[in-house]
Amino acid sequence: AFDIFRPPPPEGAPAMAAKCYPTVSDEYLAAVAKAKRKLRGFIAEKNCAPLMLRLAWHSAGTFDVATKTGGPFGTMKCPAELAHGANAGLDIAVRLLEPIKEQFPILSYADFYQLAGVVAVEVTGGPEVPFHPGRQDKPEPPPEGRLPDATQGSDHLRQVFSTQMGLSDQDIVALSGGHTLGKMPQGEIRL
Ligand code: HEM
Repeated sequence: AFDIFRPPPPEGAPAMAAKCYPTVSDEYLAAVAKAKRKLRGFIAEKNCAPLMLRLAWHSAGTFDVATKTGGPFGTMKCPAELAHGANAGLDIAVRLLEPIKEQFPILSYADFYQLAGVVAVEVTGGPEVPFHPGRQDKPEPPPEGRLPDATQGSDHLRQVFSTQMGLSDQDIVALSGGHTLGKMPQGEIRL
């Protein structure tokens, strides 16, 4: 099937390794489905989809492919990570989500924050993003400085997205579509 996020490689290109996802219990899957319904209503009612997408992205965007550190592993609730300059305002997202998260103690924060991002895309008219649960929370936040800096240019974006996160130019363009939501100030990013 055609995947809008990752179209098939050109003919003759080496096949990509099949992705391997964690398995979770039926109870966990049921909690994901129920949490998703609650998040859908909550995010639509509060009109906070952009904030939730930014939370999910800033959680994921600290991933470093070389050391396999950082990434979307529930550390955004730690005061140290919320204090990173790039995360200004995300304390509001964490606070808004907490009463719903409390209803689903079985879910990791890691999965819950990413699920909020998936729902944010969906409720604003985007595609249904396949959600693969099973992330485990990490105790320590990543160091500051791994998210892209809006004042720098394309070399910097390639350093962050390609070298650090292990993504492609195509991924940079697709992910930047996130700025069709919310209040990213005009002209802030030099792409
Ligand atoms: C390409 C590198 C990126 C840079 C340099 C960047 C930078 C920024 C900045 C400076 C803001 C304004 C934050 C504020 O209100 O103070 C912002 C907002 C936002 N960013 Fe990004 N961003 C990048 C990529 C992304 C990606 C990949 C996504 C999601 C897929 C994303 C989603 C958002 C959203 C939704 C907002 C608006 C949040 C709101 O209105 O509450 N950004 N970004």
